[in-house]
Amino acid sequence: MALKRKRIGVLMGGLSAEREVSLRSGENVYQALKRRGYNAQRLVFDDPNALVEQLTGVDVVFNCLHGGIGEDGTIQLLLELLNRPYTGSGPLACALAMDKLAAKREFRHVGLLTPPHVEPPPQEPPPDSSDPGSEAWASWAAEVEEALGFPCVVKPVREGSSVGVHIVPDREALIEAVRQTRREFGAVFVEKFIEGKEVTAGILRVEGEDRALPLIELRAKRAFYDYQAKYTPGLTEFVVPAELDEGTTRRVQDVALRAHRALGCFGYSRVDLRVTPRGEPYVLEVNTLPGMTQTSDLPKAAEAAGIPFDELVERMLETALLKPVS
Ligand SMILES: Nc1ncnc2c1ncn2[C@@H]1O[C@H](COP(=O)(O)OP(=O)(O)O)[C@@H](O)[C@H]1O
Ligand SMILES: [Mg+2]
Repeated sequence: MALKRKRIGVLMGGLSAEREVSLRSGENVYQALKRRGYNAQRLVFDDPNALVEQLTGVDVVFNCLHGGIGEDGTIQLLLELLNRPYTGSGPLACALAMDKLAAKREFRHVGLLTPPHVEPPPQEPPPDSSDPGSEAWASWAAEVEEALGFPCVVKPVREGSSVGVHIVPDREALIEAVRQTRREFGAVFVEKFIEGKEVTAGILRVEGEDRALPLIELRAKRAFYDYQAKYTPGLTEFVVPAELDEGTTRRVQDVALRAHRALGCFGYSRVDLRVTPRGEPYVLEVNTLPGMTQTSDLPKAAEAAGIPFDELVERMLETALLKPVS
């Protein structure tokens, strides 16, 4: 096969908060490619000035960066410019997926459910807790309560892996969370809290078509949505396949695939959803570069579909050459 003769660069590391996870994903992918007989090499991204030289030293790029410029379309655009085929979605899909508000607009546009949301007033910074003064903020918080109820969810527009996501029980906590999250991550928005199961759907190109893999249900081991508690990762139990009836499972898979397509994603992704007790799937977000560590969701979902890790990696690699020219 043609790919076997090409130099494959596994791009990993990077400058985002998810650097360490990316290095683990990248190492796993590199090892899998080696086992499968590819001419693979590690491209550890530390220095933007060295990046172009690194990328032009290979024929195909397997992108294992997570978050930041690795996932928001910047690297994808650079790779287009350098004419180097790369795995996964193109620049526009990545940029849309990284901006949760833009993504929600696209989901709604194609008729998918996504939690209702409210944006905070754009300019004025919210008062800090020692200065409960601002009436504008008090009345905004009252509007949020009216529109979304409590608890509700404060999250950054552009950030991944749950950093900055706060589930807040009342107006005071809402204003405080907006203040803190905005200071740390820039633009924020508030979403209605969706009661129900937390489900993630891996999407993978199989036999020439992007398809939804078996669903994974993520269960908190203890009171996770603890009022005021910051979202704490790592206390989760994975149930594969998710405990949903057949009809709901198919509906969630269909919605996940439509969310992936709504953003123009290609080849693979991972779609996060909340599924209400009545079986309605609400799309939270699409991750265009899902983790590839031992404990990551996409490899688990592939495994449940009878696709072992090395084969998953090979299928992901093939998306580099299949992608429509943009
Ligand atoms: N509207 C919501 N209702 C209930 N839980 C939510 C909601 N939004 C986010 N969460 C919780 O926070 C987690 C992270 O949110 P998500 O939108 O997937 O952002 P990211 O994974 O990029 O940080 C979700 O997996 C879910 O557990
Ligand atoms: Mg998520």
